[in-house]
Amino acid sequence: MQTISVHAEREYDIRFVENWQIVFAEIAKSHAKVLVIAPSELVAAFKLESLQSSKVKVLSTPIGESAKSPEYLLQLWDACGDFGLTRSDAIVGIGGGATTDLAGFVAATWLRGISWYAIPTSLAGMVDASIGGKTGINSSFGKNLIGSFYSPNSVIVDRAFLKTLSTRDFNAGMAEVIKAGFIDNPKILDLADAAEKNVSELIWLSIEMKAKIVSQDFRESKIREILNYGHTLGHAIEKLENYKLRHGEAVSIGLVFAAELSNVSGHLNSATVDKHRTLLSKFGLPITYEKSALPKLLDLMASDKKSRGSYLRFIGISDVAKPIWLEQVTSEQIAAAYERISS
Ligand SMILES: NC(=O)c1ccc[n+]([C@@H]2O[C@H](COP(=O)([O-])OP(=O)(O)OC[C@H]3O[C@@H](n4cnc5c(N)ncnc54)[C@H](O)[C@@H]3O)[C@@H](O)[C@H]2O)c1
Repeated sequence: MQTISVHAEREYDIRFVENWQIVFAEIAKSHAKVLVIAPSELVAAFKLESLQSSKVKVLSTPIGESAKSPEYLLQLWDACGDFGLTRSDAIVGIGGGATTDLAGFVAATWLRGISWYAIPTSLAGMVDASIGGKTGINSSFGKNLIGSFYSPNSVIVDRAFLKTLSTRDFNAGMAEVIKAGFIDNPKILDLADAAEKNVSELIWLSIEMKAKIVSQDFRESKIREILNYGHTLGHAIEKLENYKLRHGEAVSIGLVFAAELSNVSGHLNSATVDKHRTLLSKFGLPITYEKSALPKLLDLMASDKKSRGSYLRFIGISDVAKPIWLEQVTSEQIAAAYERISS
């Protein structure tokens, strides 16, 4: 088995496995009770009810972002109470990024923190959401505004899950892979561009990058912010669309915007900006957004976690693998960059 280690508030491994059920059985053995949290469509598709036993309870959640809400969280806390989860028990999140974000947050808050394991099933979940210990839900004010830094005991990556993933969701995950390439590793961009895709290597390199950054700055005091490349506008678009776009689709538009902002502010050449468009388009990802939406997006970006006081802050790049902090960006620069991504 191959593993990548993360050094956060605790050390844990990301384990690449051939059969996640074997690992699940080990987890179930090491705790008196295990609560599995998974979206209803995956409970059905992967017959997760079969995991149920006297010590394992499988809880079927709404699909996607609709489960990442304060209202639904209340129901999950009640489910923890009903099941009698104690400090030595565990939660296992099986699903895409929305599910592991939610399962991790329930684990972080129930009894002030119990063990949890992430079994990501989507590409975005494998390469990004399940790695790094950011757990949380959405608020009516914006995306992921309620949450905690709370690492899992381990992350179990079984690439076989990807066989059932829709093309749309695979492509949405590629937005995070491409982001990893632009902020840290040109090899990822070459692999994403290649006619024959080596998906396993793309996953491995993207996880390696995230594990490295998170291990340096778990609580996002500085370097970890680079992972937010494309996310300031991306999160605002997600919210404005009422989560009808996939996270990766909104991030794709946000990546082109962040590259354009880097160009408008004199840091990045146009060829590298265009490379964003070419690569993201290869995966059918959106790269433009409605021109008239800017005022609403500005309001939403103001409540982003990266804002400070009245200034919007963005992560940009000055070249591939050279992230920069765009502090105190002017409204003229934002308008100019937005104009270039407007449809
Ligand atoms: N915590 C973090 O650091 C972090 C990082 C990136 C993204 N995220 C979060 O992750 C979420 C996006 O992740 P996502 O794109 O996986 O979203 P998602 O969890 O909503 O999954 C997208 C869809 O794919 C389905 N799906 C998942 N795996 C499948 C499989 N193997 N076969 C068939 N269908 C499958 C899901 O049920 C869902 O309908 C967002 O909520 C985002 O905020 C968190």
